[in-house]
Amino acid sequence: LNVMIQAAMKAGRALTRDFGEVQNLQVSLKGPADFVSNADRRSEEVLYQELSRARPDWGFVMEERGVVEGRDPEHRWIVDPLDGTTNFLHGIPIFAVSIGLERAGQVVAGVVFNPAMDELYVAERGGGAFLNDRRLRVAARRALPECVIATGIPFMGHGDHPGFLYEARNFMAETAGIRRLGAAALDLCYVAAGRFDGYWENGIKAWDVAAGSIIVREAGGFVTSTDGSAFDLFSGNVACGNELIHKAVLEQLAKANAARRAARGGSA
Ligand code: IPD
Repeated sequence: LNVMIQAAMKAGRALTRDFGEVQNLQVSLKGPADFVSNADRRSEEVLYQELSRARPDWGFVMEERGVVEGRDPEHRWIVDPLDGTTNFLHGIPIFAVSIGLERAGQVVAGVVFNPAMDELYVAERGGGAFLNDRRLRVAARRALPECVIATGIPFMGHGDHPGFLYEARNFMAETAGIRRLGAAALDLCYVAAGRFDGYWENGIKAWDVAAGSIIVREAGGFVTSTDGSAFDLFSGNVACGNELIHKAVLEQLAKANAARRAARGGSA
C-alpha cells in the first residue's frame, strides 16, 4: 500500500501541475470523443517508473500502455493514470489516479487519489477502506426513493445509447436523483464514502474500476456485474451499493432490460 500511495501522490502532483496549465496541453483523439493528453502520458510514466522500481517483476494493465507482461505471473498493477480525462481537459476538478493490485486474479488492494480535492482513498483486503485516514462505510439507506445513484452516460461513438435511456428512465422514476461525475474510480469511492448510495455503469474498463471495487467492498458494499453475476474486472460493467440498494439497483436494471425486450417484440 505504501508503494501505491507514494506512486499515486507523485503522479497526482504531476497532474496538478498540468491542470494549472490545461490550455497548453497537447490533446489528441483515441476514438470519437475519447481524448488523451500529455498529462495522461506524464502521469502514466510516473506510475510506471515508481511501481516497476518498487516491484520489478510485476506486470501492468494500463490505460495508455495496455498490457505489460511481468516475470511474476501472480501480481499485476491495474492502472488508470488519469480517470476523468474529459473533466480534466475542461478544467473540472473531478479526476483521479487509480491503482489496483491484482494477485492471482483477485484485486487485493486499491488506491484512488483526487489531487484537486486532496482526497486519498485506500483499501487493502480485510483491512477496511479509508479516505485520508478516516474509516469509510457505505451509506445505510434502505430504499431507492431516498437514494442518489451514480452512473456513466454513454457519449458520442461509445456505448449503448438506447439501452442507457431505458435504464435511466427507471432510475429517474424511482430515486431521489441520478449523478454523473465523469470519473468511474471516484464514483466507486463516493459509494464507499456513503456520498452515493449506489452506482452502475456499462462500457467501463478494468483500470476504471479495479481500485474502486475493493474500496467499496472494504467499506461494506456489494459489487457485481450489472446482471448480478460475480464481478469481473474485464466484463465492462459494474453495479454496487449496500446490500439492499445493490439488490434494488439490479432489479431496476433487470426491469429496464425486460422493457427493452418487450418494446422490441420479445427479441433480445
Ligand atoms: C472514463 C470515466 C467516465 C466513464 C468512462 C470512462 P477515462 O475514464 O471514468 O466516468 O463514464 O466510461 O472511460 O477515459 O477518463 O479514464
